[in-house]
Amino acid sequence: MKARVFSGIQPTGNPHIGNYLGALKSWAKVQYDYESIYGIVDLHAITLYQNPTELRAKIEELAGVLLAIGIDPKHSALIVQSAVPAHTELSWMLTCVTPVGWLERMTQYKAKSATQETVGDGLLQYPVLMAADILLYQAAIVPVGDDQSQHLELTRDIAQRFNSLYGETFRVPATHLPTVGARVMGLDEPDKKMSKSAKGAGHAVGILEPPDQIRKKIMRATTDSQPAVNIEAPGAGVENLLGIFQAFTEWSNEQMKSHFAGMRYGDLKKQVAEAVISHLEPIQKRYREITAEPGYIAGVLREGAERVSPWANDTVNKVKRAMGIYT
Ligand code: TRP
Repeated sequence: MKARVFSGIQPTGNPHIGNYLGALKSWAKVQYDYESIYGIVDLHAITLYQNPTELRAKIEELAGVLLAIGIDPKHSALIVQSAVPAHTELSWMLTCVTPVGWLERMTQYKAKSATQETVGDGLLQYPVLMAADILLYQAAIVPVGDDQSQHLELTRDIAQRFNSLYGETFRVPATHLPTVGARVMGLDEPDKKMSKSAKGAGHAVGILEPPDQIRKKIMRATTDSQPAVNIEAPGAGVENLLGIFQAFTEWSNEQMKSHFAGMRYGDLKKQVAEAVISHLEPIQKRYREITAEPGYIAGVLREGAERVSPWANDTVNKVKRAMGIYT
């Protein structure tokens, strides 16, 4: 049996090139080597208030984007988290072995709760649900961006704690981080990771964004006061643009150096924009095809849930037996 991969993405905001280069691209790549399960994690999304109509629309849109970037339903199970109730069931059981102190220490919890007038309990439990997503499938590998490494470490801790309390039940997952492009920064604020929820209009390049708009945004990206590309010591904005170019083109460091050293920022930006656009164009074309076929996405999601449910139920039953819960 092939080892399993699980990863998840929230159906909020607009999926952008940071999501693509940081995680989604590697999802499409590893699906041929592993039994892959990719989740649209709607139950994570509601840990902060979401407009219901918008959330519903975002779930299908994201499914379309994931299929368009190359998630192949013949190789991967694409699921909506809430359609497989075992995620929530396992989450509760893991909650009971997770010290509150571990959760209160999470940096994302601290950052997100600081923006809320009242903090929903779900925000604190967020990483436990994420652990459930992963452990439910006994996943060996979890391809995520580096902002999720603390949550992944916690998942390992929860699995180990459960195993030591109730006996070997969960496989403890390894981490998986791609080497290039794992961290794309905001175009307007290159000291912050590109984010789906950032407010700035020039912050992120959406995967589905029209070429003209992409060009404009990249041409306006923040650089620095140096006259041209200082390849040995670029400022944060220029480094980010070079990183985006390299991640899309997969050029070597030598190629990057000899091509971009001393280039004026206007030219650099034009070349980055064209590299991004030419990569996104076929993805956008596939998206239009996929969404033009009525019922296609719903069918893929239904099949995904049907495929993984027996695996999920196996784990839940194993956990119940281990804990002495009535089955
Ligand atoms: N927390 C992840 C994020 O915001 C999304 C996620 C939920 C996830 N469950 C997961 C990622 C399980 C990997 C595995 O990016």
